[in-house]
Amino acid sequence: MCGIVGAIAQRNVVPILIEGLKRLEYRGYDSAGLAIVEDGQLYRKREVGKVRGLEALIAQDAIQGNIGIAHTRWATHGKPSTANAHPHVCRDKVAVVHNGIIENHEQLRNNQKAVGYEFTSETDTEVIVNEIYGALENTDNLLGAVKESIKKLEGAYALGVVAKDHPNTLIACRKGSPLVIGVGIGEYFIASDVAALLPVTQRFMFLEDGDVAEITIDKVVIYDKDDNLVDRSIKESQLKADSVEKGLYRHYMLKEIYDQPWAISEALEGRFIDNRLQESAFGHNAGEVFDQIESIQILACGTSYHAGLVARYWFEKLAKVPCNIEVASEYRYRKPIVPPGTLVVTISQSGETADTLAALQEAKKLGAKYSLAICNVPESSLVRESDLVMMTRAGPEIGVASTKAFTTQLATLLLLVIAIGRRFGLTKELENKISSELFSLPGKIEAVLQLDDKIKQLSEQFAEKQHALFLGRGTHYPIAMEGALKLKEISYIHAEAYPAGELKHGPLALIDAEMPVITVAPNNSLLEKLKSNIQEVSARGGQLIVFMDETLAAENDVNVQIIKMPPVENEISPIIYTIPLQLLSYHVAVLKGTDVDQPRNLAKSVTVE
Ligand code: AGP
Repeated sequence: MCGIVGAIAQRNVVPILIEGLKRLEYRGYDSAGLAIVEDGQLYRKREVGKVRGLEALIAQDAIQGNIGIAHTRWATHGKPSTANAHPHVCRDKVAVVHNGIIENHEQLRNNQKAVGYEFTSETDTEVIVNEIYGALENTDNLLGAVKESIKKLEGAYALGVVAKDHPNTLIACRKGSPLVIGVGIGEYFIASDVAALLPVTQRFMFLEDGDVAEITIDKVVIYDKDDNLVDRSIKESQLKADSVEKGLYRHYMLKEIYDQPWAISEALEGRFIDNRLQESAFGHNAGEVFDQIESIQILACGTSYHAGLVARYWFEKLAKVPCNIEVASEYRYRKPIVPPGTLVVTISQSGETADTLAALQEAKKLGAKYSLAICNVPESSLVRESDLVMMTRAGPEIGVASTKAFTTQLATLLLLVIAIGRRFGLTKELENKISSELFSLPGKIEAVLQLDDKIKQLSEQFAEKQHALFLGRGTHYPIAMEGALKLKEISYIHAEAYPAGELKHGPLALIDAEMPVITVAPNNSLLEKLKSNIQEVSARGGQLIVFMDETLAAENDVNVQIIKMPPVENEISPIIYTIPLQLLSYHVAVLKGTDVDQPRNLAKSVTVE
């Protein structure tokens, strides 16, 4: 999704802006641009495609300056084009970069056209820069002009603003989209996320919803949504500039797949004392909240939703607590019922997914008293807006396709299952069993990673395929869904997942020799049923690839290939069986030559509806 970077310094800020944009590339984008105020002029450069294209363009004209804003755009209103790329400029005087969506842009556009503004883009952003320009006709104060203008905006925005006649002022504001201020020594920066600024600072102020900041070379002045002067404390990020680099790995996604043993250890670190899960790991008053809980509602999108689907099985089977789950984008408009005693659990890697945030707000409006976020980004909006929090600690996830965020979500959800289950009769024995299985995960994931070469060979069968089916049962049905999502998003092969028992109700009609059917078949109580489903596919000539426990007697057949997996206990099995599906999608995508880390049309953090 769109990325913002801005800087004000006593040195040339262009290299800082370009480096910042490169560090935001992972969010997904289709064009990039930059505006600099220098020598009484406003310079702007924009380019469709990669940031390196913009960099080359800027090098031709040797643009430099001490204040500027830059942007990577992920098209929402209007196609990817130079005209639609940010910054947007009004009459060579004001430049704006924007993340989010202005919902009343049509009305504002009509009003502005009526008084003579000409539009050069199809974006919703251009109305913002025009409003600010208009407001500056009545004041010589850029901060005041921005404050006046944003009163007219409906929707979500994070903005960076510079103006030709205000060469010493950078304005930043946010409502519904994230924005941070980086604090350097005698210089300040703004960005959509801290990753953009790590080479220049590790000190950040996190703007809150409704904040407007006036940034000059020697200070930052912030006003909150009610126009009160406020302090936002400076927080030190634990991230280092190289923690968002891919090292010797060919792609971030591969690195992140291989990060998983370490990431899961991090997720569990310090959460147990004397082998007993500490409920304070969810927040200081977590125990009191959990005592009130009678049911759980999980809200999430995409891969995080799949983690929630697995957790629903766990909550009901292991913890014996009723659990619902819903895709956040549907929940927010459905007028659902939130019974008293509901714990609303949101799951999100980024903590900035607009639909998940809105669903949480909706749940609160509908009476939810308790909320808990499972999240990977400590400073995110979701974390700030939730009563309780469990950080997944997967470290920065840069590949658009979520990998380590998913498996750490599952591991931390199992911790929540233990904590809630204690109140619903989860036995000490089962609690201890799950806990020790969790600690065995890093070693078991290492063992599955050893299958990488075999899975790479397997991927060669996929490169020419148009479609694939994924099958699973029980907790492994959501794992099949996750496998299908991974294959779709990075290899662009159409893939669907079904609970294997559902095959004969329709999808069986798709089976022929051209249809690979990937089946997740751990050694559990559903195995015999699953074997019958496998037979149904095999009998119709389908090409089966079965990930199966190595202790089971099963061998390759003409149209059945078995990949033997290390034995694993039921509770943690979904986490383990995720790994080969991640590797499979990765290798298929590499063979197909797609942009693995930044697949077409997708964004890492979906901050618009
Ligand atoms: C996963 O591979 C996807 N990129 C996507 O489905 C993602 O999980 C979804 O957009 C939710 O993001 P979040 O976890 O940051 O809320």
